[in-house]
Amino acid sequence: MRISVIGCGYLGAVHAACMAELGHDVVGVDVDESKVAELAAGRAPFFEPGLPEVLARGVASGRLRFTTDMAETAGARVHFVAVGTPQTAGSHAADLRYVDAAVGGLLPHLSDGDLVVGKSTVPVGTAARLGDLVRASSGADLAWNPEFLREGFAVADTLSPDRFVYGVPGGEGGERATALLDEVYAGPLAAGMPRLVTDYATAELVKVSANAFLATKISFINAMAEIAEATGADVTQLADAIGHDARIGRRFLNAGLGFGGGCLPKDIRAFQARADELGLESLAFLADVDAVNLRRRRRVVDLAVELLGEVEGARVAVLGVAFKPDSDDVRDSPALDVARALHGLGAQVVVYDPQAAGTAAKLAPELAYAADLEEALAGADVVLLLTEWQQFRQLDPAVVGALVAHRRIVDARNVLALPAWRHAGFEARGLGRP
Ligand code: UGA
Repeated sequence: MRISVIGCGYLGAVHAACMAELGHDVVGVDVDESKVAELAAGRAPFFEPGLPEVLARGVASGRLRFTTDMAETAGARVHFVAVGTPQTAGSHAADLRYVDAAVGGLLPHLSDGDLVVGKSTVPVGTAARLGDLVRASSGADLAWNPEFLREGFAVADTLSPDRFVYGVPGGEGGERATALLDEVYAGPLAAGMPRLVTDYATAELVKVSANAFLATKISFINAMAEIAEATGADVTQLADAIGHDARIGRRFLNAGLGFGGGCLPKDIRAFQARADELGLESLAFLADVDAVNLRRRRRVVDLAVELLGEVEGARVAVLGVAFKPDSDDVRDSPALDVARALHGLGAQVVVYDPQAAGTAAKLAPELAYAADLEEALAGADVVLLLTEWQQFRQLDPAVVGALVAHRRIVDARNVLALPAWRHAGFEARGLGRP
């Protein structure tokens, strides 16, 4: 099938490449010329395991191309809208200007029977408004098909998601939209992936409520970490113990520096803003979810200050600056926040991250970036493990101890065995661990 994908950021670039991988003929459209040039050459403009291979295969096969020209969407049957919905400056609401521009830009190129498919995360009510616009201006229709991919697993999550959700209009339009989406996803559906067909509002809500639930789960365990810190309990053992209850489950119960990234923080805020607009108090608890999450960042800064005594001029080795491992994304990164706060207090912060130094340096040029782990650790007065890259999980206290000036470490992701570090002469702190 001929497919267009509008917006070639994280979501769109992965989606376009994966649709070509499924055998479709795909054109990706983006306003950013340098991004389009990279993608057209079969190169990923950001770090995502597995993406370079899928992109290169798609481009080499001739099934995948990229352009800045919206007119090249003409002739495609299904048009995915995968642009960003960032937080509006000065408010918590989602900024829909890119979604509106993408759908507006598509309108002149749509033909009878085409389907516009929203993938962006939007406030409930958006699909109904855009569906009316698309139907009034063309013979095309609109569906909402939220995306659940995780960075670091984006290709696998797109090709074999936990489920497909199609938000479709009522009546025949809905049947046609469902049939077209079934054709797009025929491969994964044949492999048994579940698929749920809903109305627009439900599909929009599935996405934001899934992210709100995940954020709540993380802040729940981080709230338990605060209690553990006040009582001498160990939150990692607590998580293991409650996680054995299948109704609770152990995944997303890792206490630590909390959540960041381009989705969870802004999505819970936009969801609250939408509930406020609807005059509902239902999501008031998400303000606490956000507050617990941000308190963990302050806690790590406080622990570093406590260990250092004198912060001014102290050398701080920051291990990991991406918002999570296997990503070079630093949007709302808890690690970057902590690094900047300590720099603001006068510390000499040296960051090492296996992938994210380049993206971090653009946002925080005031920090120093080491070329390798040893350089970051050399002469450090305190080591902060802020993003749990595999390389850091395997750190050897003896090796680290030989490089640093003072044996002090904060494990803000609770991945190190603290007794071994203490045995090696480190003052070692975790979050929610004695
Ligand atoms: C999240 C969702 O997990 C995806 O399902 C969703 O599609 C995506 O947002 C989106 O809306 O596009 P992602 O932002 O890639 O995916 O990251 P997650 O793996 O959810 O991690 C989010 C943050 O939570 C990270 O900073 C991570 O370090 C933190 N986290 C995660 C914890 O602090 N503890 C945990 O137990 C798990």
